[in-house]
Amino acid sequence: MNDKWLGLDGRVVAVTGANGGIGRAIVRSLLENGAHVAMLDREALAAQDVATLLANTGGRCISLACDVADDEQVKAAAEAVSRQLGDCFSLVNNAAVSVPGPLDEIDLAAWERQININLTGYLRCARAFGKSMRVHGAGSVVHVASIAGSNPQPLSGAYSSTKAAILMLSRQLAFEWGPHGIRNNVVSPGLTRTPLTELYYADPQMHRQREEAVPLRRIGAPEDIANAVVFLVSDRSSYMNGAEMVVDGGFTQSLMSHIPRPRRS
Ligand SMILES: NC(=O)c1ccc[n+]([C@@H]2O[C@H](COP(=O)([O-])OP(=O)(O)OC[C@H]3O[C@@H](n4cnc5c(N)ncnc54)[C@H](O)[C@@H]3O)[C@@H](O)[C@H]2O)c1
Repeated sequence: MNDKWLGLDGRVVAVTGANGGIGRAIVRSLLENGAHVAMLDREALAAQDVATLLANTGGRCISLACDVADDEQVKAAAEAVSRQLGDCFSLVNNAAVSVPGPLDEIDLAAWERQININLTGYLRCARAFGKSMRVHGAGSVVHVASIAGSNPQPLSGAYSSTKAAILMLSRQLAFEWGPHGIRNNVVSPGLTRTPLTELYYADPQMHRQREEAVPLRRIGAPEDIANAVVFLVSDRSSYMNGAEMVVDGGFTQSLMSHIPRPRRS
């Protein structure tokens, strides 16, 4: 359904990591709202897959192979999007990888790879796609981080460090690019079921335990995250700059529930 409230008709938006669970939901929602979308991922989608995403929507969509860890590929993708769809109004930085391991053991090559994709990749894309936003004096960059960026968890030191750094990257860009009319904001998803996390939901008991840890008693769907992203892309969030939207069903509000306490104290 085309939602005029968001005012995204004909706006060009680039999404990285667009073939993944959350990326695809963001693309679908943008298309349903009339935006023209450039999907960037390590591999381009088959024409049939793009056509399926486009079905019954008002937008246009292209899929490009682009490794966000590679300067030249990112610059080439930004130029290709301008040529094929027009200058970008918005970029959604969403591509990430996670290599689990304790910090005293993690291979430094794996550490650097995560920094290069998850963090430098976000800056690289913001600079390449931000160029035309600067020319037009308007734009919105949305960075997908994670609640892991503010909360330590087992085996997640490298991934979590990149997500924490994204929070500051976004605030710093908000400060530096605000005067040029370009907003930067973060969406931090909580537990969300996607190919990245499928392993955690294969065991029904672990699935249930995870649901019980969330005040809303359900695991997030990619669409829950997409709704927040699309709002931040749109002018409906026009006075938000440097903000973090936590989309986690209230999970990060439940810290004190771990402390045993007698009923009548
Ligand atoms: N799923 C969750 O529970 C969860 C929770 C918090 C945050 N997130 C964040 O949400 C975002 C999307 O995650 P997801 O769950 O959809 O994961 P996913 O693995 O389904 O999708 C990630 C996509 O990024 C792409 N990608 C990886 N490296 C790339 C590179 N170098 N260049 C281009 N593309 C690359 C992958 O090919 C994949 O399509 C990530 O930033 C992730 O950290 C996810």
